[in-house]
Amino acid sequence: MNRFTSTGIRSSNASLLIFPNPGQSAYLWSMNKNDHRPELFIAFEGIDGSGKSTQINLLSEHLSSLSHRVHQTCEPSPGPIGRMIRDIFTGKMEGDHHTIAGLFVADRLHHLLNKTDGILTKMSAGNHVLTDRYVFSSYAYQGAHVDLDWVIAANSESQRILQPDLHIFLDIPVDTALSRLVKRREQLEIFETRENLEKVKTMYDLVLDRFRTDQNILIVDGMQRQEDIAADIWSAVKSMLDLE
Ligand code: TMP
Repeated sequence: MNRFTSTGIRSSNASLLIFPNPGQSAYLWSMNKNDHRPELFIAFEGIDGSGKSTQINLLSEHLSSLSHRVHQTCEPSPGPIGRMIRDIFTGKMEGDHHTIAGLFVADRLHHLLNKTDGILTKMSAGNHVLTDRYVFSSYAYQGAHVDLDWVIAANSESQRILQPDLHIFLDIPVDTALSRLVKRREQLEIFETRENLEKVKTMYDLVLDRFRTDQNILIVDGMQRQEDIAADIWSAVKSMLDLE
């Protein structure tokens, strides 16, 4: 049974639109897959400490147990531009917000297009790709400091090349994010402050609202038990794959 409460509204292009009802643990904005390829490209989003890695692992295990091939990846990517970004975040290198936004644009294109382990290469080899962050992270994190429309425009080539079939946003309060980060890390990164996370959370809410009519977005209550979050995510992924 579908765990999402549906108002049964269908849009003109027959995508199922499911709207939030009070007390629901998850809600899904649209359900049409972007094209006819069998592999899914799914981007996990959320403020730091929202539990993305755990859920990516659980979804990956679930898909693998059904003999689907899965590639897990993340942004900043493990490549050279991603490493430069991490050096800025840990304070080893200086970088202002525009430079960081530009580096993310370049890192994302490299992450998509590099022939060795790029997302497109992995998808052509028959893998579903689960990424820990994609363009919405830039909209929320860099959009908190520089003009959002500029960030969206700067990332438009990545979105044109490959738009996620589904963005999954794990929703947790800033307080929970901060206490999880403090437990997990010896030292916080330079932007891991309450003030920044609050700005980022506000930007995410704005961005999710802005794109909910033309992209597939699943918003999950990240304060639930891990297995319940995983069940919400599986309901959506299963429908996209036409599985029982
Ligand atoms: P994480 O590996 O713990 O998710 O950390 C990655 C950090 O990078 C996180 O604080 C969010 C940030 N980030 C951006 O600021 N912009 C982006 O486009 C991406 C992908 C990540």
